[in-house]
Amino acid sequence: MINSASDNQSEEQWLRRGLRDLTAFTSLPLLCKDKSPREIANILASVLQSTLRSDFVFVRVTGPFPEKPIDVACAARRYAKVDARKISELVAPFLELESGALGVPNPVGPGELQITLSPLGFLNEYGVVVVGGSRANGFPTTTDRLLINVASNQVATVLETVALQISERELQAKAQSQQRLLETVLEQLPCGVIIANPPRGDILLKNAQATDVLDSSAGQPDRQTLLDLEVGFRAGGQPYEAKEWPLARTVFNGEVVKDEEFEYVRSDGERRYIVANSAPVRNDRGELIAGVVALQDITELRLTQQRLLLKSEDKYRDLIDLSPDAIFIVDSEGKYVSGNPAALELVKCTELELSGMPVINTYLPEERGSFQLQFEKLKTEAIIRFERTFLRTDGTTVPVEVSASQVRYGHFQTVVRNISDRKRSEAALEKAEEALRKAQADLAHVSRVTTMGELVASIAHEVNQPLGAIVTNGHACVRLLSREAPDLNKSLEVIERMISDGMRASEVIKRIRDLLHKAPPEKAPLNINETVQEVIALVSSDVLRSKIELGAELAADLPPVVGDRIQLQQVILNLILNARDAMSEVRTQPRELLITTLKNKSGDVVVAVRDSGKGLDAKDAERIFDPFFTTKSEGLGLGLSISRRIIEAHGGTLWAKPNEGKGATIQFILPPSSGSES
Ligand SMILES: Nc1ncnc2c1ncn2[C@@H]1O[C@H](COP(=O)(O)OP(=O)(O)O)[C@@H](O)[C@H]1O
Ligand SMILES: [Mg+2]
Repeated sequence: MINSASDNQSEEQWLRRGLRDLTAFTSLPLLCKDKSPREIANILASVLQSTLRSDFVFVRVTGPFPEKPIDVACAARRYAKVDARKISELVAPFLELESGALGVPNPVGPGELQITLSPLGFLNEYGVVVVGGSRANGFPTTTDRLLINVASNQVATVLETVALQISERELQAKAQSQQRLLETVLEQLPCGVIIANPPRGDILLKNAQATDVLDSSAGQPDRQTLLDLEVGFRAGGQPYEAKEWPLARTVFNGEVVKDEEFEYVRSDGERRYIVANSAPVRNDRGELIAGVVALQDITELRLTQQRLLLKSEDKYRDLIDLSPDAIFIVDSEGKYVSGNPAALELVKCTELELSGMPVINTYLPEERGSFQLQFEKLKTEAIIRFERTFLRTDGTTVPVEVSASQVRYGHFQTVVRNISDRKRSEAALEKAEEALRKAQADLAHVSRVTTMGELVASIAHEVNQPLGAIVTNGHACVRLLSREAPDLNKSLEVIERMISDGMRASEVIKRIRDLLHKAPPEKAPLNINETVQEVIALVSSDVLRSKIELGAELAADLPPVVGDRIQLQQVILNLILNARDAMSEVRTQPRELLITTLKNKSGDVVVAVRDSGKGLDAKDAERIFDPFFTTKSEGLGLGLSISRRIIEAHGGTLWAKPNEGKGATIQFILPPSSGSES
């Protein structure tokens, strides 16, 4: 090696050698071209060793290479055998060194050597170079170091390129295997898949099933974009717009399409049923980068369904023919298309006559207006039901119940049931009910008359009394007027008394007549207090004779109730007379009868008749309302049962309960007339 140039010749020699070495190193990249990392390491080691005539060169290559680390070594020829592994073991402790020289035991022979290190790559990314030489030769000189650095840098650049190529190849391989994976998955799927990307809808990927679903006709050139897709025709014969396609809507508008079914006619005229699902694919920034559509051919399924339907229609044919109900098919213009045997029987015509007959012909002229209404309603509603009169071709009529619904192709089916029997029994039932109502009314009347019979004595008394007074006053009047000087003033007074007595008597008679009068019930708003008072007037003398103390506490704020005055009077009269009877046996304590009216919390009107009579057993509280239940020798046992029916017919309830002390309270509540509800 060169120590110092003391003379011009040696300086020139040194320069020339240095330049030659540098030039040799700049050709290193060329030497290493297309070589493997190991080959590159070997080239570097041998070039460095021979150029510098060093004892040994050790190169360790690391980095993104499949084989690593790669250790190679090269030694001066005087050393017999070079083992890169042994060298690497010996220099390993010094590999972390920054730079500079270091004395170490000679790894290839006896004695000691100076070593110097140079990184491969700026941060040792590609490894390290170790050069060993003898100190005696002045190793390493500045020039040695410079040359080692230049060579390392050159090789690092080459390694960098190789590394880049490798990672690119890896990426490519990865992408390819992913693509293969995707393709395999798509081929395995039981549906057609097309992937396209915006903005033009270029088709990125399409599996064979997709081609199959859309058009199996061979030799069709592959479509480039979505809009080039030949998308077939609708069931109606209209071509589909490419833009209407689920995938197009996804790619162009980002729409998600869920289970959309459409009919699709191929170029060869074959009809397919397809279900599409499509969804957009977005990147991290939410931008639309692709759209995926899955197409499922459900033609087989649909055809099977249709076949089953036809089969079941065949099966139902018998049922329809056997049906006792008339079943018609009606077209969109309201004309009969066909009907089952029961239908022909109903209309009284042949199948031929039925076909094309307007349904409206089977309506009574006065009911034809309703036909249009029902027909319109049928177009928007799933099913409609109504009753009407069916006019047959022979002019007779039948009451029917119709159920109609839409079927396919704008046709309707109607099931028409003859309901004459039902109508007849309804009428019979109504008649029976009417008879029952009449019987009940008669019974109520009989009971009223009977009750009045009980009052005859006291009523006679009440009428007799004013009549007697009239007679007495008449005599008095005659006397007054037959005087020589008739006392006209006094006579007038007496006559006025007679008039008022006469009115009192006729008042009593009128009340009795009212009660005995047999008139159909008539409901009107009334104040229950007035009704109570009318009854009290009627019974007061009877009650007085029975030594009963009659009290009335009538609330002033009662709302009116809607009712039949006579019927309600009958109820109250019954309750009062029952109370009187219940007290007739009581001799040891006061006979007290209290009639109360009030408005309860829910706004209903309550009427209670409370007595201090013999009272009720708990078990009798309900039984006394049974018809013919009586404990009286002369009793009919109808009063309370009729009263309860009357109150219930007024929307109220009537019940009895024993008093805490003596006697019982029978009471009823009536709802207020709706006009007065608050
Ligand atoms: N206020 C009452 N206290 C005790 N028992 C009563 C009272 N009201 C009715 N009853 C009982 O209910 C029975 C049935 O009454 P009702 O139907 O009016 O028929 P009748 O008065 O003809 O017996 C009476 O016989 C009586 O035993
Ligand atoms: Mg009675």
